[in-house]
Amino acid sequence: MSEQRAPIGVIGTGYVGLVTAAGFAELGSEVVCVDIDVDKIDRLKRGEIPIYEPGLAELVAKNRERMHFTTQLSDALERAELLFVAVGTPPTYSGDADLSAVHAVVEAMPASDHHALVMKSTVPVGTGASIKRVFAEQGKAGFRYVSCPEFLKEGSAVKDFLSPDRVVVGDDGDWAGDAVVDLYAPLDAPLVRTDISSAEMVKLASNAFLATKISFINEIANVCEETGADVLEVARGMGLDDRIGSKFLQAGIGFGGSCFPKDVSALKQLAGNSGYHFQLLNAVIEVNELQKRRVVAKLQKHLGSLVGRRIALLGLAFKPDTDDMREASSLVLSARLQADGARVVAFDPVAETEARRLIPGVEFAADSLAAVEDADAVVLVTEWQEFKELDWSDVASRMRGSLVVDGRNALDATAVQAAGLSYEGVGRGTVASLALP
Ligand SMILES: NC(=O)c1ccc[n+]([C@@H]2O[C@H](COP(=O)([O-])OP(=O)(O)OC[C@H]3O[C@@H](n4cnc5c(N)ncnc54)[C@H](O)[C@@H]3O)[C@@H](O)[C@H]2O)c1
Repeated sequence: MSEQRAPIGVIGTGYVGLVTAAGFAELGSEVVCVDIDVDKIDRLKRGEIPIYEPGLAELVAKNRERMHFTTQLSDALERAELLFVAVGTPPTYSGDADLSAVHAVVEAMPASDHHALVMKSTVPVGTGASIKRVFAEQGKAGFRYVSCPEFLKEGSAVKDFLSPDRVVVGDDGDWAGDAVVDLYAPLDAPLVRTDISSAEMVKLASNAFLATKISFINEIANVCEETGADVLEVARGMGLDDRIGSKFLQAGIGFGGSCFPKDVSALKQLAGNSGYHFQLLNAVIEVNELQKRRVVAKLQKHLGSLVGRRIALLGLAFKPDTDDMREASSLVLSARLQADGARVVAFDPVAETEARRLIPGVEFAADSLAAVEDADAVVLVTEWQEFKELDWSDVASRMRGSLVVDGRNALDATAVQAAGLSYEGVGRGTVASLALP
């Protein structure tokens, strides 16, 4: 297969770029990976993987001979016609997407009639049209453009790349779109080939819908707490309806990460900039913000004032199996707790380095048991598997207090209670009331 596949370039070797590059290398393509981060490229050249993503190190090692790392865009332009763009598009202060990295790539492209930019980065609808306009103004109208949004999830990114639910290709019906479709063909995934603006919107709408589902079940959970219903039972009953589905119906302390918060906000702003007030998304964002803070009220309900209280946070990353701390609920939670006078001690299996940079004033423990030592309360923030397997009797014997707040409804409430601890989940009215002294 490898002989027939043309080399490709991948610009930006972060979570999306590196997985995309390794995935295409696995399918047999030579891949030139470009990044402006000299240190990152040096590490990749040495065989180090700068991020934590299960299976990625193995995939890169396996396909090492087909993967080339460079800081020079010209290396990719010389060897490849398709240049996948996977640079960051973080939020600006206004909540719009910051496209400066995308624009830097566009500006660096030469006039060419045999190259194409393939946009993997998540960008507002209309970005493709404006990039094509820029190309035309700069005498580079021959440069083709394809939108190919990425749907992988951190924590299962390798699997998501190799067996995607769908591949979306938005293009002008030319050679570049055909070439992208051919590249993905071995994956045998359902293909949505469409126009560029619709492809851009598929990505934003998908993330906004998933975020809406999370905020919806979180609101149901909050009502469950008032009424005595258990949201786990409610979600189980709802999820069996195949019009609803069980995924993204896990109540908790809110969504975070590098995508949902910024993409929901970017879609809201995009709508506003186009003259439409997207009311539903305002509620989705507000519910999510409040959800992170409800933990503090739960702690106060049991402990009273938090001044001087030692609160152990288990997990800091925005979700398990990643070291990504972007927009993690732990950032808001730890800041709120400290503002209320609590002493916060935290443990995360892989995110500590990044967390130390982002969360001042927090004490970092070497492991979960060290974190819970003398704690007045333990809060499960990220549902890493190792926390689900904790020996709660051991935890209880080390704690000063007896409260466990399960921010992800991931713990075995019965096991926690059997150890003599009080269990407080999210939306688990019945379980919580049973647990209270
Ligand atoms: N992380 C995810 O789970 C995910 C999933 C789907 C889509 N996306 C989207 O993919 C894009 C990339 O996200 P990410 O999480 O991989 O970001 P990231 O921050 O991990 O990686 C971006 C990389 O681009 C590099 N870069 C920046 N400017 C560059 C330039 N001019 N030339 C070359 N390299 C440059 C950075 O140094 C960095 O290594 C974003 O638009 C994001 O919304 C992310």
